[in-house]
Amino acid sequence: MQRSLILLKPDCVQRRLIGEILSRFEAKGLQIVGLKMIQVTPELSRQHYAEHVEKPFYQSLEDFITSAPVVAVALEGLEAITVVRDMLGATNGLKAAPGTIRGDFSSSRQMNLVHASDSPESAERELNLYFQPNEFCEYSMNL
Ligand code: CMP
Repeated sequence: MQRSLILLKPDCVQRRLIGEILSRFEAKGLQIVGLKMIQVTPELSRQHYAEHVEKPFYQSLEDFITSAPVVAVALEGLEAITVVRDMLGATNGLKAAPGTIRGDFSSSRQMNLVHASDSPESAERELNLYFQPNEFCEYSMNL
């Protein structure tokens, strides 16, 4: 089992796509074990995107990610990190394959709707940025 940190970014919230995109993850069989809407601060943005802080596009990325609330989601499942990244498609929505979330809903590199952890190490770091240990819910999926 793996856990991944997913952010439904401001464009996803503002375009009323939260339900649509959460539905795709649920339909795939991934389990939501944490969920919250938050306003990302510049400080949290710098922590989250630490590897991009020195890049030319960073300020624009920070302005975007702090422009409206995001929905932070902890998703659990077999190989969840790879499964979610494959569902998202390429970073640039223009290049993302049809059938992927970005391929179907985004035409932008920055406003690409969803962020997802890219490795187990990133997932652990990012989950800890957005959730306290007692905010994860453990429950059976059997009715
Ligand atoms: P994300 O998966 O959240 O990780 C880093 C984000 O930076 C990425 O999605 C894009 O939104 C953004 N990004 C990456 N490359 C560029 C770029 N060249 N110009 C603007 N934004 C970028």
